[in-house]
Amino acid sequence: MRVLAFESSCDETAVAVVASATDGGSRPVIVANVIHSQVNTHALFGGVVPEVASREHLVRIAPLVREALSTAGMTLDDINAVAATRGPGLIGALLVGVQFAKGIAMARGLPFLGMHHLEGHLAAALLSDHPPPYPHLALLVSGGHTVMYKVQSFGEYSVLGGTRDDAAGEAFDKIAKVLGLGYPGGVQIQRCAEGGDAQAIAMPRGIPQKSLAEFSFSGLKTHAAEYIRRQVQPLEGQHLADFCASVQHAIGDILTKKAVYHAHAQGLEGVVLAGGVAANTHLRDLLEQRCAARGLWSFVPERALCTDNAAMIGAAAWMRMRRGESSGFGVPAVSRWPLQNAGDGFVAKGPVGTTV
Ligand code: KG4
Ligand code: ZN
Repeated sequence: MRVLAFESSCDETAVAVVASATDGGSRPVIVANVIHSQVNTHALFGGVVPEVASREHLVRIAPLVREALSTAGMTLDDINAVAATRGPGLIGALLVGVQFAKGIAMARGLPFLGMHHLEGHLAAALLSDHPPPYPHLALLVSGGHTVMYKVQSFGEYSVLGGTRDDAAGEAFDKIAKVLGLGYPGGVQIQRCAEGGDAQAIAMPRGIPQKSLAEFSFSGLKTHAAEYIRRQVQPLEGQHLADFCASVQHAIGDILTKKAVYHAHAQGLEGVVLAGGVAANTHLRDLLEQRCAARGLWSFVPERALCTDNAAMIGAAAWMRMRRGESSGFGVPAVSRWPLQNAGDGFVAKGPVGTTV
């Protein structure tokens, strides 16, 4: 079973080929995974401009399909299904990937799968040689979402709690913008935090009570922005490193404390970290330490599979294909879509073989 997968929900145009592992088809593996990041385009504006993103997807998508197929050593004749992120995300950006994928599927007589972006982020873990077991707690931290889910099995998600205001990635991005560090902010803050003292500058923790499964990052964002504006000289050198390390730790501290507490409270044995912010080294280390200290396992996908990519969408689509599910061509692109309803739009035709 080989899936051609598209991701175009925000500012990455990405195409992948995901296939069944050669061990009898028990799991999905990456055959090709290519991406064009629009970071340089949007950096000029200090953030993603939706209209510009859509136009760039349109220009990049066809050459990326050629590149993915040539990397895989395949043609469209070798593909069994076509999948694309259909939400949540920027609607104009989503439309490019969805419509392109539907076009290929229709022309080739293949099934189409309209995928949930966050289900893709969680499915990145399934691309590992040793994927994490179910059930577990998933901490999903990206530019648009910060949510803890109880994941019973693939496709069965319940929300334990999420952010009341900004997403963690949004806090990184906005603080980096005030610092003049550019976009995307998480990467820049991580870079500037090297050699910094995470305890040097006190940063507030929104909703600090561990037992409350919700997060708030707007207070941290405002506090950090005011701190920067109070400085007579622009932050630089060790002061900048200490500031960035303190911000990074404040975000990682509250995320990991709550994830560990609620995994334990729910009787879950481990935590999967996912989403673009999961690429953050400090957060990855902190989660591993705190889970280990509490007797929990932790799992974080490799960095390139944490930020937006099409392999994760292919992995999620592969899982649904294996259950005999596909979407049909009538499903729309949607800007909002709760993960609990990730199965919306799919019809099951019964399990299909994994080694077509
Ligand atoms: O999942 P993603 O690629 O796109 C969305 O679905 O939102 O996440 C993007 C977010 C941005 O806010 C970016 O600043 C953050 O992930 N990010 C990081 C790092 N790399 C990306 N945040 C902290 N540290 C990083 N190394
Ligand atoms: Zn994402």
